[in-house]
Formats: sequence, structure tokens, C-alpha cells
Amino acid sequence: MAFWNRRRSIDAMLAPHDGPALKKTLGWPHLMALGVGAIVGTGILTLIGVGAGLAGPAVLISFALAGLVCACAALAYAELSTMMPASGSAYTYSYAVLGEAIAWIVGWSLILEYSLVVSAVAVGWSGYAVGFMNGLGWALPEALTVGPHVAGGIINLPAVFIIAVVTGLLLLGTRESATLNAVLVLVKLTALVLFVALALPAYDAANFTPFMPNGFGAPFVQTGVMAAAAIIFFAFYGFDAISTAAEETKNPGRDLSIGIVGSMVVCTALYLIVAAAAIGARPVASFAESPEPLALILRDLGQGTAAQWLGASAVIALPTVLLAFLFGQSRIFLGMARDGLLPRSLAKISSRGVPAVVTVFTAIVVAVLAGIMRLDELASLANAGTLAAFFAVGLSLVVLRVRDPNRPRVFRAPLWWLVGAITMVGCVVFFLSLRTSTQLWFLAWNVVGLVVYLVWSSRNSRLARGEEPEG
Ligand code: ALA
Repeated sequence: MAFWNRRRSIDAMLAPHDGPALKKTLGWPHLMALGVGAIVGTGILTLIGVGAGLAGPAVLISFALAGLVCACAALAYAELSTMMPASGSAYTYSYAVLGEAIAWIVGWSLILEYSLVVSAVAVGWSGYAVGFMNGLGWALPEALTVGPHVAGGIINLPAVFIIAVVTGLLLLGTRESATLNAVLVLVKLTALVLFVALALPAYDAANFTPFMPNGFGAPFVQTGVMAAAAIIFFAFYGFDAISTAAEETKNPGRDLSIGIVGSMVVCTALYLIVAAAAIGARPVASFAESPEPLALILRDLGQGTAAQWLGASAVIALPTVLLAFLFGQSRIFLGMARDGLLPRSLAKISSRGVPAVVTVFTAIVVAVLAGIMRLDELASLANAGTLAAFFAVGLSLVVLRVRDPNRPRVFRAPLWWLVGAITMVGCVVFFLSLRTSTQLWFLAWNVVGLVVYLVWSSRNSRLARGEEPEG
């Protein structure tokens, strides 16, 4: 088979591989906590402001559209990850279904996604941390709290700091991190429920007019409901991080389906309620530009103490998102290195069962980006990478149903053709609604990736060396 089209065999993939195995320690409660921990973060806490600025109150439609596309992608993920419980996520599925070259592009896009999510969420964390500390009267010099894109800014030091802390936690080992994660998820959910409880009594229907001040939008139009959906999309993903833990799951068939679909449903419902409560409580213009919009709304409502609690919860709990994505990032690297597409030395696992080299390397890169870049730019580019991966997952679902309909499936996505179509069309439309600079950066990233693939990876993969049978 031509090199770009060679595929891994699903059967060979399920066979035990050489090299150190990851420990099987996770059950569905861990996975659901990992999912909700990865999903609820800077998207709902901070980008809600950016989205509302683009769409006005109609950001509610943006939330619903992004939720629909992500729910379909989640169903596709659930089917594929239970068939191929290996730690590389969309990259692994594409390798078995769509061939090596597409798998490379997906893996390369996932590296972009996971890295930039960590940077973006660290910047979001910094916004709430700085607000919280100001509330305590401990103001840091502004030059050290924002990157050089703001006049007078030098580096976003809190963002760099939190990445260092989370990297340390991760190096202690999966199990410890996952259990701590579950406690922090509860803190985060309680804070959002508190926000809704305090914002709803201030509900004023007048805040919903005009409902759609910037129109619905269309591809290449960078304002309106679609442009907001393309950025709000950030708030919904994270369930894919669960599938990167597949190899460490005790009972993948049951645990992964419950973990992925369950966490998606919980988060979508919560977001719509939070967004409606926020817009009902205060005019969009009052919080659209804030680095900590939900805390600002509470302060405007005279709830200063609650705003401090919300800020504290974000500060304590947002690191769960960082944890999940840094964890996922190292697993994608691991999968690609094991397959010979990246240097195998990267797949080395420490005595605590963690791929330490990759984790530390990733952390350094994302900390630098978090220190100097804008939140919305980081989030848009992370979205571009994710959209590419979700598109491939939707396509893999459809192709495998057609090519291999009788292969046993532990979880079967309902209406697979519709689920696949909505995922793929949604990803293309969202990508076209991202800002042009993001689209160009994404293309540049993939041009570099293709050069690496053609020069090194396509010759060194296990399939290229004949170390594994092709599918
Ligand atoms: N969904 C995650 C967040 O909103 C990435 O922070």
C-alpha cells in the first residue's frame, strides 16, 4: 500500500504491544470526573464574554450549536474509543481507518489542540487569580500579569506559575492526579450553581434585546452567531481527553461510553443555564471584555463576597482542565512515538508510570506561549486543531461503518450517518468562521508537520519498517 495510505490493523492494535504498559487503574467515575474536569473551564468562565461580544444575547444559539456538534463528535468518539481502546485518541482511530498520512495530520493537530488549550486555560486562570488577589488587596504589578500584547505588559506570570504546578502534580502519577481531580470538579460545579442561584433573581428580559445585534454570520464573516459558536466551541471539548486514558481503563466498553457521553450531557445543560443567567442578569456589553466575566457580574449585582468565592473556586479548580489536557498531550505523543512517527525515546515511562520527558517538554513550551499570548488567539488556534481532529473522527465513524459493518462494537452511535454528517459539516463551518489569521496559522502548522512527516516519520514508522502488519 502507498505510504500515505497504509493503515494499522485494528486487530494488531488490540494485541499487547512491546514496551512498558500503562497501569489499568481508572473506572467510569474517574473518567467522568476527568471529562467534566477537562470540559468545564475557561470556555464557560471567560470565553462566554468573548462569545457574547461577538453574538450578543444570541450567544445562547452559539452555545446550542457548539453543543450539538460536540455531542455528535462525542458519540463518534464513544463508538471508536471502545473499539480501539488505545491511548492515542483521534490519531489512533484515523491511523486504523483513514491511513498514516491523515493520522499524522490529526496527531499533529492534536498536539496543537492539547498544547494551546493548556496555554489558554492558564491565561483564563490568571484572569480569575489576579481578580481574586485584587479582592484581597494583594495586587501584583500589571506588567507581570499580562503579556506584551497589552501596553505595559511583559509576561503573564500567574499563567506560567500554574502550568509549573500542574506539571508537578502530573509527574506524581495518574491515580493520584485523577482522584484529586474528582474533588476539584465538585468545587467547580458548586461555583457555577452558586453563580446561577445568585444571578437568576436579577433576571431582566430587557437584556435580551436586541437579541442578535451582529447577525447570524456566515463562513469568513468574523462576527455574529457563527463566529461566536466557533470560539465557544472551546468550552465544550475535553471529553476527548477521556479517550486518551482508554489504555488505563479497567473496563473500556462500559467505562468509556458512560464517561464520554455522560460528561458531555451534564456540561451542555449546565452551560445553557449559566449563559442564560449571565445575560439575564447584566447587559452583554458590561462583561464582554472582562478577563473574569462571571465574577464581574456578581460584583455588579452587589455580591462581592460571592464573587470572591467564585474566583477562589476557579483558582482552585481550573487546574483540572490543565491536568486533563497535559495528561492527554503526553498520551498523544506516546502513541505517535510508539508507532515510530516521533522519536521512540519520547515514549520512555518513568518509575511512577508517567511519560516524564514528554510531559516536561510540553509544559515548557505551553508555559512560554501562555506567558506572552492573548487568550482568544490561543483558544481560536486550539479550536482549529480540535476541529481537524473531530472531523477525522466523524469521517472515521462513517468509513468504518461502511467498510467493516460487522466488526463487534461495544457502543454503537445511534443514527451513525447523521451523527457523522453533523460532526463533519459542523467542523468545516466552524473552521471557516474562525478568524483568518487563525486559519493561516493552522495551515502553516500543518505545512511544517507535513515536512516532518515526509522527511522523517513516513520512513521510520513501525509500518514503514515492517514491524507491524498493515490493516
Ligand atoms: N473546555 C475546556 C475549557 O473550557 C477546554 O476550558
